[in-house]
Amino acid sequence: MELNKARHAFVTGGASGIGFAIADALAAKGVPVTIADNDTEALAHVIADRSGKFRGQALDVRDRDGWIAARAASEAAFGPVDILVNNAGIGPDGRGFADMDPKSFDRMIAINLVGVFNGVSTFAAALREQGRGHIVNVSSTAGLTFSPQGAGAYTVAKHGVVSMSETLRTELAPYGVGVSVLCPGLVDTNLPRSTARISGDPTGAAARMPEGSIDPAIAGKLVARAIERNEPYVLTHPEYWPGVEMRLRAIEAAFHAQSEN
Ligand SMILES: NC(=O)c1ccc[n+]([C@@H]2O[C@H](COP(=O)([O-])OP(=O)(O)OC[C@H]3O[C@@H](n4cnc5c(N)ncnc54)[C@H](O)[C@@H]3O)[C@@H](O)[C@H]2O)c1
Repeated sequence: MELNKARHAFVTGGASGIGFAIADALAAKGVPVTIADNDTEALAHVIADRSGKFRGQALDVRDRDGWIAARAASEAAFGPVDILVNNAGIGPDGRGFADMDPKSFDRMIAINLVGVFNGVSTFAAALREQGRGHIVNVSSTAGLTFSPQGAGAYTVAKHGVVSMSETLRTELAPYGVGVSVLCPGLVDTNLPRSTARISGDPTGAAARMPEGSIDPAIAGKLVARAIERNEPYVLTHPEYWPGVEMRLRAIEAAFHAQSEN
């Protein structure tokens, strides 16, 4: 969609990192932005530093009633939402499935996968009805590859986000609504600290995540471009392709082996 015609963008997890960069990139194109986050302190800080083009919205993406209230309050202030960015998420806990606390698995799926569905469920029918708009879901290159060690639950959620986005894109295309999925590699954000706060595990694997190699502003600009061009996949690290290719080649080999039997 043309960003100069977008009336209002709603960005989850926008008080930090990639979400914040997406909010900034959209505002730079003149789009009023609601930044939704469950870190109300960071949210207040971010909004205080910004002009009237931004408003803050306390929201935990796991809270379905909260989503309905957040949509009503945001649209009362800034008008109908044309762009939804489901970005809020946490990082891996470092455990293999056999050793993982089931609560950690549940939290990962609730935030990183169901949280995205909750956003879609709150806004997609209205976008379809109005016949315009765009949804961006934030996955990861972990949503396209085999799981790195200890990132299994994260990868389950992120593969789910890719799948949801691909299907949603097909469902909404006839109505003029675009869908993109952002699959970043390592980005320099607060993900280790946010994950430690939300999981209550300050020394866990998230705190030891490798440092990001790019600035989130790069991801923000790529997302703004993807909305304008209705690109299906938004990738930040072209050098990660061999990991994706390895998985696709393994699947391809299994298909060929089957047809030779
Ligand atoms: N940083 C990376 O290297 C990287 C790589 C691939 C994908 N991602 C994905 O990018 C997205 C953004 O992460 P980031 O790296 O910018 O991290 P970040 O911690 O800087 O920002 C994430 C924001 O989401 C918020 N959040 C977390 N749980 C929430 C919840 N339940 N409800 C509402 N808000 C919540 C946090 O408070 C934080 O402000 C995540 O989905 C993450 O999985 C990040």
